[in-house]
Amino acid sequence: MAQNRKKKIGLIGGGQIGGNLALLAVQKGLGDVVLYDIPAAEGMVKGKALDINQLSAVDGYDCRVTGSTDWKDVAGSDVIIITAGVPRKPGMSREDLLEINLKIMKDVAGNIKQHAPDAFVINVANPLDAMVYALHKISGLPKNMVAGMAGVLDTSRFKCFVAEALGCSIRDVEALVLGGHGDDMVPLVRHSTVGGVPLTELLPKEKLDAIIKRTREGGAELVGLYKTGSAYFGPAASSIAMAESYIFDRKRVLPAAALLEGQYGISGYFFGTPVQIGAGGVEKVITVDLNAAEKAELEKSFQSVKKTVDSVTL
Ligand code: NAI
Ligand code: 2OP
Repeated sequence: MAQNRKKKIGLIGGGQIGGNLALLAVQKGLGDVVLYDIPAAEGMVKGKALDINQLSAVDGYDCRVTGSTDWKDVAGSDVIIITAGVPRKPGMSREDLLEINLKIMKDVAGNIKQHAPDAFVINVANPLDAMVYALHKISGLPKNMVAGMAGVLDTSRFKCFVAEALGCSIRDVEALVLGGHGDDMVPLVRHSTVGGVPLTELLPKEKLDAIIKRTREGGAELVGLYKTGSAYFGPAASSIAMAESYIFDRKRVLPAAALLEGQYGISGYFFGTPVQIGAGGVEKVITVDLNAAEKAELEKSFQSVKKTVDSVTL
């Protein structure tokens, strides 16, 4: 009988999000994990790996984590999730991270090209849309094998605030956030529903405006609370949803930063829109039909992304 080998998941960056990614990957049985970080963080990744492997006995998880500072251990990964980079501190924008995180991305993307050219690669590091652009350019990976995680998290925040406002189950909230992972992202109220009922029929405009504002500032709200870094539980779960859809060929339609080639009149930039993720990676890039006001908001979000991406030197 043909043996299906376990998938291999390379997590580049073993910090706050990386550690949670490793735990979720094991708990969901996605595959064996290599938690990679720089030599200065060797103890941390080896410690997290050992801690999670010991936890595996409690509930009987079959996947294992290896902590490593050697790219050779990442070689042959089926999926890679990049969180290598510096998170923001209070008062910083995601764009303030460009210079330092671009240096890190150059190192990481070059190593992916060399050691794991067949992987489906999800970038999480900020500024998200510029980092995934740099990843694609430097690694030379096919466009369908590169995506940025932001939309799942931003949409999840939006759904959370809607469920809180209505006192309803979050399971019944369907929503979508488009555009760049910045303060002018576009939560699409007109396309959101609760149990099939349009959201606009359930909440007054002032309440909806407050939810949109809180969603846009969702990352900053957590930076303000944590003080030493940014969100990590939500970002980890959101990235795992994308990895899971790839590994199990679920073909889920999730918002993510994908390479646009004419959609919304944009070409050559990674930007948030619904995509279908399956065994072929980003199998479809889906466009949403927008009215004039939504188009104007999306254009504003795109201009912010474009400004950051255009300042990237590779
Ligand atoms: P963290 O500081 O806890 O972990 C980052 C890790 O990257 C550190 O352990 C560091 O040693 C490692 N690292 C640095 N250079 C490296 C290299 N060349 N190779 C491998 N590893 C390297 O940060 P955290 O909280 O895990 O956040 C990671 C990134 O994710 C940040 O850029 C943050 O802004 C971003 N982020 C993105 C979100 C999104 O929605 N896309 C949400 C939340 C955070
Ligand atoms: C977030 O949205 C900071 O991008 C990070 O939580």
